[in-house]
This record gives sequence, structure tokens and C-alpha cells, in this order.
Amino acid sequence: MRHMDSRGRISLTLIVTMAGTAAGTVVLAFLLAITPQVNWAGEVHPGKLIYDLHCARCHGPNGLGDGPQASHLKITPPNFQSATFQSRSDEQMLDSIEFGEARTQMHAWRGRLTEEELREVMAYVRRLGSTP
Ligand code: HEC
Repeated sequence: MRHMDSRGRISLTLIVTMAGTAAGTVVLAFLLAITPQVNWAGEVHPGKLIYDLHCARCHGPNGLGDGPQASHLKITPPNFQSATFQSRSDEQMLDSIEFGEARTQMHAWRGRLTEEELREVMAYVRRLGSTP
């Protein structure tokens, strides 16, 4: 973390010094290309913010179904990383998130999240499936 912070500060200093010069723009573009690990604004998947806030407590930070609340549930959350789970279509997944699963703690998120947020969080659940 400390390492990332100092990298961030160095990059910011670079931006400030280089802004305005044509050569600076080229160098900056190059730096952006070779440092994908830097957390530039917007790089975090928008669905992750929603997921961490609303879903991780049951589904776990990586979608393994091991969130802090999971052990209190009668019906446990599925493993989002499993191939079986990921074989569901986007529509099926979105449907579960939107309308919930009857007789489980997975309630409907329609009305609590906007259409866009529902799609973003679904896309993020999808992405968790490709976590190595
Ligand atoms: C209070 C705990 C809890 C929270 C919070 C929660 N879920 Fe769930 N979720 C569950 C449980 C339990 C199941 C399993 C339901 C079942 O097996 O029918 C589930 C199932 C699912 C499924 C799979 C449904 C299926 O097809 O079997 C998806 C997708 C899902 N949740 C997404 C989300 C998303 C996205 C959020 C956050 C916006 C979220 N969940 C928040 C408990 C939760």
C-alpha cells in the first residue's frame, strides 16, 4: 500500500511538471500504458463498489460464498467462481439479482439499485468467475 501511495505521488508530480508540453503528453501516454497497476480514477470496475457495499457480506469478497454473514444463512450463497454458476446466462443472473430467490435471504435488488447498477454488479459477478 505504502508502495502504491508513493508511486501515485510520483505520477502526480510528473503530471504537474509535464502538463502543457507536447513531449510531456507523449511521455505521459507512455507511462499510462506501462503502469496499468496504478489506480487511475475510473479503473476500478463500477460493479465492484456496489458488490463490496451490498453483496460481499454474504457472497464473500471474491464471490466464494464466504462472506461474514454467510454462516448465519440457512441456504448458503453459491460459489460465483464455479463453472456451473458461470454457465448461467446474463439474463438469468440479472433476473436473480433483480427479483431475488424465493425463500432465501437473497432478496430482490430492484428498487434498491438502479437499472444501471444492477447491470454493473451483474457484470462484476461475471468477472469474479474469471478470477484466477
Ligand atoms: C443476506 C445475504 C445476501 C446478500 C446481501 C446478497 N445475496 Fe445473493 N444470494 C444469497 C443467497 C443465500 C443465495 C442463494 C440462493 C439460492 O440458492 O437460491 C444468493 C444467490 C445469488 C445469486 C445466484 C442466484 C441463482 O441463480 O441461484 C446471485 C447472482 C446473487 N446472489 C447476486 C447477489 C448480488 C449481486 C448481491 C448484491 C447486490 C447479493 N447477491 C446480495 C444471499 C445474499
